[in-house]
Amino acid sequence: MTPFRFIPLVVATGTLTASAGEIAIETKHSALVLRVEAGKEPLVIHHGKRLADAAEYAKLPDRRKAADDPTGVYGAAYTTAGSRNLLEPAIQVTHSDGDASLVLNYESHEAKQLANDVQLTTVKLVDPAHPFHVTLYYKAYIEEDVIEQWSVISHGEEGAVKMQKYASANLFLTGKHHYLTHYHGDWAREMQPESEELGAGIKILDSKLGTRANLFQPPSFMIGINGPVEEDNGEVIACNLAWTGNYQIALEVDPARNLRVIAGINPFASEYTLAPKKEFTTPALIHTWSGTGSGDASRNLHRWARKHRVLEGEGTRQTILNNWEATYFDFNEEKLAALIKDGKKLGSDVFLLDDGWFGNKFPRNDDHAGLGDWEPNKLKLPHGIGHLVKEAETNGIKFGIWLEPEMVNPKSELYTKHPEWVIQSPNREPHYYRNQLVLDLSNPEVQDFVFGIVDKILTENPTLGYIKWDCNAVIFNAKSATNPYPAHLYVDYVKGFYSVMERLRQKYPKLPIMLCAGGGGRADYGALKYFTEFWPSDNTDPLDRVYMQWEYSKFFPSITMAAHVTDWGKQPIKYRTDVALMGKFGHDIVVSHLDEKELRFTQDSLKLYKELGPTIWQGDLYRLVSPYTNDFASLMYVNESKQEAVWFNYLVTGSRKNLGSDGAVKLKGLDPAKRYSVREVNLYPDTKSPISGEGSWSGDYLMTVGFSPQVTKERDSVILVIREAK
Ligand code: GLA
Repeated sequence: MTPFRFIPLVVATGTLTASAGEIAIETKHSALVLRVEAGKEPLVIHHGKRLADAAEYAKLPDRRKAADDPTGVYGAAYTTAGSRNLLEPAIQVTHSDGDASLVLNYESHEAKQLANDVQLTTVKLVDPAHPFHVTLYYKAYIEEDVIEQWSVISHGEEGAVKMQKYASANLFLTGKHHYLTHYHGDWAREMQPESEELGAGIKILDSKLGTRANLFQPPSFMIGINGPVEEDNGEVIACNLAWTGNYQIALEVDPARNLRVIAGINPFASEYTLAPKKEFTTPALIHTWSGTGSGDASRNLHRWARKHRVLEGEGTRQTILNNWEATYFDFNEEKLAALIKDGKKLGSDVFLLDDGWFGNKFPRNDDHAGLGDWEPNKLKLPHGIGHLVKEAETNGIKFGIWLEPEMVNPKSELYTKHPEWVIQSPNREPHYYRNQLVLDLSNPEVQDFVFGIVDKILTENPTLGYIKWDCNAVIFNAKSATNPYPAHLYVDYVKGFYSVMERLRQKYPKLPIMLCAGGGGRADYGALKYFTEFWPSDNTDPLDRVYMQWEYSKFFPSITMAAHVTDWGKQPIKYRTDVALMGKFGHDIVVSHLDEKELRFTQDSLKLYKELGPTIWQGDLYRLVSPYTNDFASLMYVNESKQEAVWFNYLVTGSRKNLGSDGAVKLKGLDPAKRYSVREVNLYPDTKSPISGEGSWSGDYLMTVGFSPQVTKERDSVILVIREAK
């Protein structure tokens, strides 16, 4: 355990006793250091490698007096608007008396040990002219090198304060060159990376979509300090904003060429009215610093997510046979009974019934009708869901179900009954996304309704084993019929969603639920607290998935990343299976279409996943060969004891000459002193591998000289198991 160190000039708890001092928020390798002084704005004076001698933080230069900063607050820990600051603020408010200026000075701070390796530092700030308070929270996960940072805003003014902006975190990074890697996309094109050097001015990453907020751009990004983000070298900060709604991340290169990063809820159309004595808690920015590239930054986030954030992050996962692509909306009890049997035959743990099972007056036979009417369709399923749950159980497989409880089709009984529950503007023509509208989760009645749908199905079917929670539409014409504060809609929607999930998790703490938003539209650490996994994309073409999963893996551990074998793409089933095996494995295929060999191969791969799952789910991920600059992608997971590793290789170029791994790939993360065997697994029936498991190599050799996975056009995906040789 790393001891928590206090800097001498500042006491651990209480108010400042000396005229100035430093507060260091330290993890195993990193430190975020604030300089505070009574009656002044706290500044960030260091964000990077932790110093061996904490007393030396006091020697860090004070930018307050820098000649190139006439305001003295370029490096503020939480920059205010309307007073001395001239740059992008973290907070902007109008006080109850109409004063639109804010200054936030240091008042006191406190550091608490929450667990062996978790420390919480809070820094209280106050406006000298108004009873207006902000507390900055820094939760340091010491072993994982992760800091979770958020703010709590409150006041004791006469009337309400209007908050125009209320960010979660305000980072400040010195260094003259900063590089940003960020992502964009659309349906079936999630997580397309882009990298650039940040120039003067402000670069904004944001979402104004309301729900399914990450459709075009997720709140995940990396910053390379003094050089582009690299896998194994250089200073990198990897971040994810834990908020499942509109967000804004402003990256401003200040006039002195330092980088200011202000991340939080999007101020767009979201002025928040804060009543006296009420608290507003912002979502958290999750960030990790690595001095050794994005590889370590990702592993930090993975370890943190598994241990501290994702539901059952250190647990196991079930394999699924989903019927979506096998049937779409066209099924009945007989068809499902056959598919359930197929799931058992394959060896899956769960049969998941997707969209199309509900709606009677407006049957859900395509995506134009029925959303909102969560009663089983009597024609398709005359004996209801309970019958299917039993059918599955009789066949020795669990039953799971698809829900999209936040949404409504105008062609539904729900819409007819409760138009006031729907987000829409009375002055505007309705505009649909996938023929549907969004229910107003800022309305407590709607929260009860959504909770009730899930609760009812789970109460009626207590052995139901899995839920896929979808969210396919964005918000158009953002108007609530009931919220007394129209501008609260976007924020209160997300708070309403979290409050429903809190209630559900109190009652059903462990039920596996997949977070889906027409793909990866909700992949963030705000939602993942309540979910066991997410659906990265409806695009399951394995070639595209190699890239997408590669990018998602920079922020999310494999245990959270659902990857199904489907009929997308032209690749043979071996390649499709190998790509899905690197994540949370499952299937969405017509089992009866598999020939004898394909079936045998798929059954065996499910057995293999049971054996290798623990290393894939909990192991450390090393990205070895990038598909962007090579003919193939290569990555491996190494378990904690370093006795087992699973190594995945995928050819990604289909038409060039000299394809494949023309030489040895240097492995990573092994124990140099251990000896290992290397054996190819998941072979297609009747094929032989040149890598049979004969012989052994030291970890030192495998990491220094490497080993060739022998990826060729004929062997376009290769999985190898590396085991300590006894
Ligand atoms: C979304 C999901 C799909 C499927 C359909 C059902 O597009 O991403 O996996 O569940 O909805 O309508």
